[in-house]
Formats: sequence, structure tokens, C-alpha cells
Amino acid sequence: MIFEEQLERWLTEAFVQAFPGEAVVAGRIGVTATADERNGDYQCNAAMGLARLLQMKPRDIAERWVAAAPKRDGIEDVEVAGPGFINIRLTSTALAQWLIVMENDSTLGTPAVGRGRTVVLDYSSPNVAKPMHIGHIRSTVIGNALDRLHRFLGFRVVADNHLGDWGTQFGLLIMGYRHFRDEHRLREQPVEELERLYVKSYERSRADEEWLAAARRELVKLQQGDAENLALWQQFIDLSMQSFEPIYDRLNVTFDLARGESYYRDQLGAVVQLLRDRGLAEESEGAQVVRLEAEGMPVCIVQKSDGGYNYATSDLATIKQRMEEFAPERIIYVTDERQQLHFKQCFTIAHKLGWAPSLVHVWFGLMRLPEGTFSTREGNVIKLERLLDEAEARALKLVQTASPDMTASDQAAVARAVGIGAIKYADLSQNPQSMITFTWDKALAMDGNSAPYLQYACARINSVRDKFRSRFPDQDLTDCPLVLQEAVERRLALRLTRFPGTIMRAVELLRPSILADYLYDLAQTYSSFYQNVPFLKAPAGVRESRVRLGGLVASVLRQGLDLLGIETPDRI
Ligand code: ARG
Repeated sequence: MIFEEQLERWLTEAFVQAFPGEAVVAGRIGVTATADERNGDYQCNAAMGLARLLQMKPRDIAERWVAAAPKRDGIEDVEVAGPGFINIRLTSTALAQWLIVMENDSTLGTPAVGRGRTVVLDYSSPNVAKPMHIGHIRSTVIGNALDRLHRFLGFRVVADNHLGDWGTQFGLLIMGYRHFRDEHRLREQPVEELERLYVKSYERSRADEEWLAAARRELVKLQQGDAENLALWQQFIDLSMQSFEPIYDRLNVTFDLARGESYYRDQLGAVVQLLRDRGLAEESEGAQVVRLEAEGMPVCIVQKSDGGYNYATSDLATIKQRMEEFAPERIIYVTDERQQLHFKQCFTIAHKLGWAPSLVHVWFGLMRLPEGTFSTREGNVIKLERLLDEAEARALKLVQTASPDMTASDQAAVARAVGIGAIKYADLSQNPQSMITFTWDKALAMDGNSAPYLQYACARINSVRDKFRSRFPDQDLTDCPLVLQEAVERRLALRLTRFPGTIMRAVELLRPSILADYLYDLAQTYSSFYQNVPFLKAPAGVRESRVRLGGLVASVLRQGLDLLGIETPDRI
């Protein structure tokens, strides 16, 4: 049980004592960290919500409640404040004990609440024959953080890269490939060339009906298994994957599966049949549609009048397959905001079919770049690889200034961690649903809410530790008790104890930014600790305690950043 849960249990026991017969309420008693430390360490606001039910003033409820609280080690003080807040102050001994539990635990006190539970995470999922662009970075980076966070809590995660590798675009692409391809470009920049071929073929089709009809015939041939078209299609996939892979490597992202839409192509007919059998799909102008008026949504076409299937049909088949194969309690999709209606429709239909997993769409807004809003259609596509190159180049300058004595190859390695980390963190530290404006200054700020700032904080702690070790080589820190005397020490200790609860909330709300906020706050608190009290010059005993506390801060920062997919170099 994490710290907060222990307090909740204790408050619940007190509540049952004070209000016997109201036990139903007890399951909903929660504590939160206080915003202002003068009000204690944790607070419980439940009394306010219980006034109606108990027919009492919140303040009276809180007072009776607190009076019934059993004595408990570790709690220094409980008081009722304002309209009925219950403020709790912990003893420094209890805090220190909990820190030692964290120190000795490979997950820093975080319980494996996900053990025996499965989630499928559908993320990244770029389209074949198109370059990955900045829009995809958000899905990849957010999805990968959610992936790491779930695994850390013990969930079985099936991370699936649901490539867009099947659909009507392949008819046009095959025509473009046959008539316009440039072998040289295809070797040099295969995906860019495929995209060019598609665009050229598409433009031709708008002016030339014969061309469009031919593209349709090629598509039908592909769908019917024509060997030549299948081989071309496979080649498009292979070329695309070869260009995606180095990006995944640079971002340190791996998947358990990369099943594209094509994997489900033989299951689409059965899905439509199932929808018909259940009375959910009906014919309309030759097409098969699911009406969703009652849910306030437009109809969902699951089979077109020409017999072709849609994106929604494919996603329904995908859910069914995942259910049967992995029995997940939840399937999480990470895409941009433009797919909200699509997923709402799919999820509604899945629920009508009685399918069990909870289905969640984690969507994010567009990313603004200094040049203007990013958009694929307008052609001002800033390619992902260029963005990563620039991040590393800019980080290298930072590192060269900060550590001129480092070898060039070490500098390059650190620059990679800092540059890629900066890009990821700029994304993960935001509420994904707000429009974010990316700027290099913010992403690389050594003194702001950025990856380099947090990485630097870790490196500084390491250097204090190294200095300590060289001066006191025989001192084993774990033999030295943690002393939490100064207000700033206590504040830091309290922040540390909130790590497990933070991870659990980030997973519950599917928001990596909750962890990023926490890490930034922790690093700032450490920084004021470090600036306000002596470390190596402190008296023996206090000195060891401070270095040890710093070590725990470094472990939490390192673990937290790792969960966001960000490396922490020893030095910067
Ligand atoms: N390929 C799609 C795109 O790039 C994203 C796919 C998301 N996953 C899904 N199961 N539909 O827009």
C-alpha cells in the first residue's frame, strides 16, 4: 500500500467509528497533497461532499471524524481547518522510514497494481508510403510513455504499431509507380519518392477518368490477390518500414507487434455479417451502414456500395481479434484529434456488440511550430528526421559549452540523450489536448521545465555523490540515518514519498504530463535544498543524510525520466 493509501485506510477506519452505518461512503475517502505546506502534508476534503448525506455541517462532520481517529504512529498532528478540511501532518520519522522503503525497492515503493492485467496500446501507426512527420512523433512519444508507465505498474502491455498499410490509396500508388518512378530517387529517398508518385498519380486521376478507372482496377487486382500487385505492395511496405526503423531506434521505441490494417483484411466481411446478424447494420443505397443518430453521430458506413470496406470496419475487426487473442481489459489508441469521431463511432458500435474491453482514445492537438501550424496537406511537412537532427545539433552546442573537456564522442552521446530527450519532454510535459507551440528555446532551456534541466539536475547530484565518495571513501551511506530537520529537507522528503501515487495517477488518467510536472517540481525542490543548506561542509551525520537524500532524488528523477523514455547521462 502506498503512503496515501495508508492514510486513506486510517481515515476510513476513523470514519466508520464516527459514523457507524455509513460504511458505503467509506470507499470514497481520498487524501491529496496539500498545496501549502503550512496546512500540513496531506489533506482530506471528503467532509464537504458528505454534508447532504449526513445532514450535518461539514465542519461538524470533520470534527467528529477526527475525534474518532485512532492513535497512529507516524502522524504528528491532525486538525480541522476552514469549512471542514482535515489536515494531516506526518512525523519526520515516518517520512524517513518510507524513504528507506523506497530506497530498497526496485520500483521505488510503487505497487504492481497491474499484475495479471492486460492492456493493448495502439500507437505510432504511420501510413505506408508516406514519410513520418511531426504529427506522428506525438503519438509515438506519448504512446511509448504510456507503454512504459503501464509496464512499470506490472501490466502486461501489448504494444501494437497499427500501420496504415491497406486501403484505396494503393491503386493510385501502383499506377504512379508503374508510370512515373525515378529509380535513383527510389534508392536514395524511397518514402519521399513513393509519396511523390502517389501525389502525382492522384493529381492525374482528378483530370483523367481513364486513369482513375485504371487505378481502381489495380486496387481490385491487389485485393483479389494478384501476385504482381501484391509484390509491389509488399515492396512499398518494406521500403516504408526501412525508413521508419531508424526513427524508432533513435527514439528508443519498440513494439510487440506491427500488425497493419492489412492483417485484418480477410476478417472484414465477417464483421459486416456480424453487424447484420445483430441487427446493427442495414442497407442504405447499396451500402451497409450502422445508424448512430440516437448517439448524436453520423451513420457509420461499414461497407461501401462498391463492396469495399472502410477504416471503421477495419478497426472493428482489429478490436475483435485483440479481444480473442489477448483478452485485454482495455485498448488504448493514441492519435491526433482528427480521429475523435472515428473512434467514438467504433467504440459505440463495439459496445452495442457487447464487446468487453474498455476502449479509450487518447488524442492530442496539433503542434505549432514557429513557422506556423504544422499541416500535412499544405506540404510544409517538417520531417521527423530533420527535427531530431536539429535537436541533436543544438544539444551538442550546449554540451560543448558545458563540458569542453569531454571527449568528442562522449559529447555526441550526451547530445543525443539531451536533444532527443528535449523533444520528447517538450511533448510529454504538456496537456496533450492543448495546442502546443514548440520552440527550441523552451525545449532546451537549462533553467526551465525541460529535459536538459532535469538531466542536468541528475548530473549535479551525481557529482556531489562523487565528491563525497572521494572525500569519505569508507563511508557507507546506507548505514547513516536520514535526518529530516530543516523545513527544506522535510519538503524534499515529502515530495519523494509522492512518487508512487504520481505514477498511479498518470496511468489512471493516461497523462504522462502528471509525471513530468512532478519531476520538475522535485528537481526545483532539490535545487532550493542544495542552494540553502551546506552539503559536504555540513557536520558529520547531517552531511551523510543529505547526500543520501540527494541519491534518492537522483533515483526518482532517473526512474521518472526513463518512464518518459528519456535517458539521463552521468554528466552533461
Ligand atoms: N494510420 C493512422 C494514421 O496515421 C492511425 C491509426 C491509428 N490506429 C487505429 N487502430 N486506427 O492516421
